[in-house]
Amino acid sequence: MRTPIIAGNWKLNLTIAESRALASAIAKASPESGAEVIVAPVSLSLSAVAEAASGTPLKVAAQHTHAKDSGAFTGELSPALIQDAGASHCIVGHSERRSLFGETDAGVNEKVKALQAQGLIPIVCIGETLAQREAGDAISTVTAQVAAALEGVDVSKLVLAYEPVWAIGTGKTAAPADAQEVHAAIRAWLTEHHASLAQQVQILYGGSVKPANAAELLAQSDIDGALVGGASLKAETFIPIIEAAIAS
Ligand code: PGA
Repeated sequence: MRTPIIAGNWKLNLTIAESRALASAIAKASPESGAEVIVAPVSLSLSAVAEAASGTPLKVAAQHTHAKDSGAFTGELSPALIQDAGASHCIVGHSERRSLFGETDAGVNEKVKALQAQGLIPIVCIGETLAQREAGDAISTVTAQVAAALEGVDVSKLVLAYEPVWAIGTGKTAAPADAQEVHAAIRAWLTEHHASLAQQVQILYGGSVKPANAAELLAQSDIDGALVGGASLKAETFIPIIEAAIAS
């Protein structure tokens, strides 16, 4: 019922030419239906990647935005410019943005609203740290982040991505059953607060997803796709994840 989404977060990697070439290879493996494929290049490569994806089912996301469309915000980019560059989605609240660049729950909420106002789809990241998991606070942390990010927004026009901080770039993946438990808790929160939409919101899992573990994660009933970092940087590791989603 929910189309799986495989999104590649390229982080600060690849030149513009490398991004264009990788996007072309991924576009060829992106199906018209059965799975939605998105890549998120460095901001400077958005136009080149959007050009490579043009006329194919591949969609393009920015990794970050400012909430305002223009003004004295040196170094920033805006929802309007992201759309102008040809992207349809934008990652918001990635744990690296939260921990390294001071992104707050309130800031995430503001950006989700700004992106939606521009007609872009936010991919909203949430996830607990290892300390929060070990303290038994994984679910309360994540549902609090969801509640803050979604306050006053159109829940029918966004994607959620659960990424346990301890699983990102570490090679440690959440056990599928543990990931499913958090995804189900997020869905339960959605049911309580947005009953009519809860079954349609796609909730991606992220954190060391690779070809070897993708199928098992995607088989969980509330895991609707993956946000992939390291394994999205090469066609030979990203395309098998797309294929696992098509088969799921
Ligand atoms: P990873 O990154 O797949 O390299 O763990 C995931 C992410 O940060 O989105």
